[in-house]
Amino acid sequence: MKTILTGDRPTGKLHLGHYFGSLENRVKMQYDYDTYILIADVQALTDNFNNPEKVRENVRELALDYLSVGIDPKQSHIYIQSLVPQTAELTVYFSNLVSVPRLFRNPTTKFELTQKQELFGNTGESITYGFLGYPVSQAADIATVNGNIVPVGEDQLPHIEQAREIVRKFNNIYGDTFNEPEAVLSDNPRIKGLDGSEKMSKSLNNCIYLSDDDETITKKVMTAVTDPNKIRKDDPANPEVCMVYYYHKLIKNPNISTVCTECRNGERGCVFCKKELARNIIEFLKPIQERRKYYEERPEEIERILKEGTEATRKKAEEIMKRVRENMKLNYFDE
Ligand code: TRP
Repeated sequence: MKTILTGDRPTGKLHLGHYFGSLENRVKMQYDYDTYILIADVQALTDNFNNPEKVRENVRELALDYLSVGIDPKQSHIYIQSLVPQTAELTVYFSNLVSVPRLFRNPTTKFELTQKQELFGNTGESITYGFLGYPVSQAADIATVNGNIVPVGEDQLPHIEQAREIVRKFNNIYGDTFNEPEAVLSDNPRIKGLDGSEKMSKSLNNCIYLSDDDETITKKVMTAVTDPNKIRKDDPANPEVCMVYYYHKLIKNPNISTVCTECRNGERGCVFCKKELARNIIEFLKPIQERRKYYEERPEEIERILKEGTEATRKKAEEIMKRVRENMKLNYFDE
């Protein structure tokens, strides 16, 4: 059976962009793979080393989001990255297999650096070794469980590519040890914001969170960007440029062709259309929020799931690391 390894940084609540970008895929795939889902607290610290409380608080939030979307603890091991120290060990071995210029060329790292520059001014002096190197530790996350399949959003592709290069180099030098991991994208690897931005993202403040209440969802949907050429409610419009239509499609409105025709014919006002969308999103999130409520009321169950998931991951990681140490001639006291 092939192995899935994927996860997120515990830095905030998950939103519809995460759901359609990757979570939905992970939920579907967990039945056919040995699945490990990591809560990347060590990676979150690369950006938040001076705010450990934030990372800690969000570990449980993230676990709650995972469980509520249907990551099934009977199918998937949900684990905390820092409690699998084999990852840290492998990161050190991997760090010899990637050059510093190569790390600077990683497009996602580059983009994050520009963002930091915009926020904090020139950061050349303050780029940490940990920040630059986090893709190496991400490669180690995947390799410590010998993952084959990595379901992620589009922004993670450069990291998976980098992981493949590192693993390939390792296999060449020390002998065949790891699978080359493959990224799996969903049908919609990047979800646009209701405001029309290219990406739903916390930093752009345009998210519908999986845990938003009905009123908040309705309010947010009412602000969605529609065809700017439609002035009156019976003007014909172009649904292809409308974020409301985009979201109707995303959450698979069964009457999508009616929505489209009515919009084109000027038979559908935007307020009406938005109210329908809000209702559908609320309906769509209902089972997710019911599961959330179940787990919110049972924190000891979340605790147990995380402990067991971490234990199982550590066990698998140690098996793999035995082979790694052997292949690297580091097995001094083993027969
Ligand atoms: N980089 C991912 C994020 O920002 C989190 C992550 C850490 C990850 N290690 C990983 C994702 C390994 C996939 C595989 O959310």
